[in-house]
Amino acid sequence: MGRSFTGIVVWHFAGSNPKGFRPFKEILQRFDQPIICLYLAHRLITSTFPSDRPLKVAVLGSTGAVGQELLQLLEERSFPVDELRLLASPRTAGQTQSWNGSELIVQEVNQNSFQDIDLVLASAGGSVSRRWREVINSSGALLIDNSSAFRMDPDVPLVVPEVNGDAVTGHKGVIANPNCTTILLVMALAPLANRLPIRRVIVSTYQSASGAGARAMRELEELTMQVLQGKTPKSNVLPYSLAFNLFLHNSPIQENNYCEEEMKMVKETKKIMNLPDLGLTATCVRVPVLRAHSESVNIEFVEPFPLHEARSILSQSFGIHLIEDFENNRFPMPNDVAGKDLVAVGRIRQDISNPNALELWLCGDQIRKGAALNAIQIAELMIGSK
Ligand SMILES: NC(=O)c1ccc[n+]([C@@H]2O[C@H](COP(=O)([O-])OP(=O)(O)OC[C@H]3O[C@@H](n4cnc5c(N)ncnc54)[C@H](OP(=O)(O)O)[C@@H]3O)[C@@H](O)[C@H]2O)c1
Repeated sequence: MGRSFTGIVVWHFAGSNPKGFRPFKEILQRFDQPIICLYLAHRLITSTFPSDRPLKVAVLGSTGAVGQELLQLLEERSFPVDELRLLASPRTAGQTQSWNGSELIVQEVNQNSFQDIDLVLASAGGSVSRRWREVINSSGALLIDNSSAFRMDPDVPLVVPEVNGDAVTGHKGVIANPNCTTILLVMALAPLANRLPIRRVIVSTYQSASGAGARAMRELEELTMQVLQGKTPKSNVLPYSLAFNLFLHNSPIQENNYCEEEMKMVKETKKIMNLPDLGLTATCVRVPVLRAHSESVNIEFVEPFPLHEARSILSQSFGIHLIEDFENNRFPMPNDVAGKDLVAVGRIRQDISNPNALELWLCGDQIRKGAALNAIQIAELMIGSK
């Protein structure tokens, strides 16, 4: 009853626009407190980002793995685009990419690229985002950035809409998309943490070639062919051949002997979930899968978490799909989620070595939910279009 009433008032704030209702409905279902719902709806509607007209959108890094997915999602989700500008490096400038029935020419990014643009979806790496941030913001555009450049900046919201969508209200021209493995992880952790505080998480990842970009995907295909032809594979994109092989994540090793990817998971999870004291340790591994990452997750709570409740919570959580058939030993696989939006979770079980801990397994398409889809969801949240 309370929720319904709040829903009507929130609908009013959203301009009674059915297209604009979804984020508010999602917020409503996340938060029981009507006041918070009202506040968030009001902040979203009164933000300076235009929500009353189709947007002029630039995709910076449009030719990459994430960039191509961004184009597909803008079309698939009928994002209100007035003009789409495709930006990349001199390497691909002049090439064409199809979008929504048109052939668009890729332009080399330059000082004038962001004139009149409302929204920049960037996926061209950290140095490119750092290089163009000021130009983007001073042209009045909002930057939603897939790189790690600004994620830990206290002024930059780090957002997974299903987990902390309300954080977008604090942006100052830049909203960061978290690391792909982190997004997939918090999708499973957050609903459980809403029920019982989490004390510690131990995660091991199984990361596909696509996490290293479009060239790494092509390399895995080529090197696999080479091995099958009896040749010795020689990698150029990744440091070692992934064909019939795996290796610990190739990001730089830090002073504490964790790699950068592992430390991204540690720091970003704490920021997104607003749990600065959360214990989290990660081991990240690259595996010869073309697309979609997997994670083995051990979650220790402050007290025992009833298994049936965990299963029920996750089965009802936004963006989660439970794949669990113990009888037939069938649980999530990368192929289940490649090209799909949902994060597949399964094999939820009691940790036999710790009464307060649960084990689970998850798979998610890190180019979709781990990058492009999450960025588009943030943009949708900003305009209230879905
Ligand atoms: N792949 C994933 O699963 C994933 C997930 C989450 C976040 N991310 C992040 O998203 C970003 C892109 O990743 P990706 O996998 O899509 O990489 P990618 O396939 O290698 O694509 C990189 C894109 O950036 C463009 N680019 C490179 N240097 C540029 C420059 N100097 N100026 C303008 N454009 C430039 C490339 O253009 P050209 O084609 O012209 O070279 C290409 O469009 C990275 O920051 C990555 O960490 C990736």
